[in-house]
Amino acid sequence: MKVALIADVHANLPALEAVMEHARRKGCEAFWNVGDSVGYGAFPEEVVAILRRQAVNVIGNYDRKVLEVKKQDAFWRETGMPEKRMAFNWAYDHLSEESRKWLSSLPEQVRMEVEGKRILLLHASPLSAKEHLSPETPLSRFEILAEAADADLVVCGHSHRPFSIRAKKTVFVNPGSVGRPDDQDSRAAYATLTLRKGRFRLCQYRVPYDVKRAADEARRRGLPEAFAQMLLRGVSLSGILEEESPGRGDLLLSARKFAELCGAEAEHARQVERLALKLFDLLKPLHGLGKRERFLLQCAAILHDIGWVKGGNGHHKTSLRLIREAPQLGCFSSRERGIIGSIARYHRGKLPSEGHSAYGALPEGDRFTVCALASLLRLADGMDASHGSVVREIALRMEPGRILIECRVPSTAFWERESTEKKKDLFELTFRKELKIEWSQA
Ligand SMILES: [Fe+2]
Ligand SMILES: [Fe+2]
Ligand SMILES: [Fe+2]
Repeated sequence: MKVALIADVHANLPALEAVMEHARRKGCEAFWNVGDSVGYGAFPEEVVAILRRQAVNVIGNYDRKVLEVKKQDAFWRETGMPEKRMAFNWAYDHLSEESRKWLSSLPEQVRMEVEGKRILLLHASPLSAKEHLSPETPLSRFEILAEAADADLVVCGHSHRPFSIRAKKTVFVNPGSVGRPDDQDSRAAYATLTLRKGRFRLCQYRVPYDVKRAADEARRRGLPEAFAQMLLRGVSLSGILEEESPGRGDLLLSARKFAELCGAEAEHARQVERLALKLFDLLKPLHGLGKRERFLLQCAAILHDIGWVKGGNGHHKTSLRLIREAPQLGCFSSRERGIIGSIARYHRGKLPSEGHSAYGALPEGDRFTVCALASLLRLADGMDASHGSVVREIALRMEPGRILIECRVPSTAFWERESTEKKKDLFELTFRKELKIEWSQA
């Protein structure tokens, strides 16, 4: 027997549909869902309708939060998380009475015996409805939970972290989140379980789906913009809210909207943004720049290719001009526009020179900021040369006199290798260190 293990759908219908189709193609005959079926996403009623008919289900803490939101209004008012309060209320209001009844009738745990294996389905952990289990949870904790579980296989969700771990005679598996992954990979996660002759085998998958549909529908149905961003970028809500410290959230939003208006390739911009910020964070000991500069780099990554709206030729220069002049970006100060525009300009082509009018007009300190940040953007753009988001992970090693960056890719990544090699010039020049880039199999 082959079963699809799903968790944390969070009312994301396009992701659920993609996973179910993928699982059926893999030969799955059943779906076991370990909760957090609603909350966050724009399709609570549709998702419940499918899960009701097609899955074995348990309840998750977010399902409860939605069901109890009206009773807990005083609590939600005090938490200072207006987005969550609004979204749980919205989910409650958009679930039918019947669906709410069904959700609240779901058990905390389901125990069954299949092909001689004792299986336990639950949302969080055998000892708590809120405990987050992840690959970082100590083995000693899993051993205590294994005692309590009294099962051969425990299927759990809640942490949105895909893993499987054996502790004593029990295997714990989390298939990851279908509808709200937050490991910066927006694809839906799930797992398959094959049970045969008293043995079982697990396989974890990531499935691309129409993320844009899920995000657009969240916007169309009036959910907070942070929810759409969460799906598009595959990050947690708290990650987005933190980054959007006063004022910056609105500025980032304006940048994203303008990039969309210019028809910039959204998937590529997201990958470049992700890689550029990752490089910034990893290389912090080298550049020593702070939150403000990180934010400028993020804006430049979002906007770097908007110049394509006037054609590919010299598009980096068009990006600079638009960033400095477009009325839609009027919320940025002219100094910010000069810096962001210059970072974007140097994502390709010639290196910064005082003869370039925008760069030449910057004060000395801003020129260093531009060189340092453009060198990272240039690398990040090279690492997505095919626009295929092939670089999954990057790691860093600093040695005296040289820096090693390891890119993990599932394919040969021919274009990325060639382009990144060419584009490391500004980095080596700015930081006066040799940069070696290695490519390994993801
Ligand atoms: Fe969840
Ligand atoms: Fe949860
Ligand atoms: Fe690009």
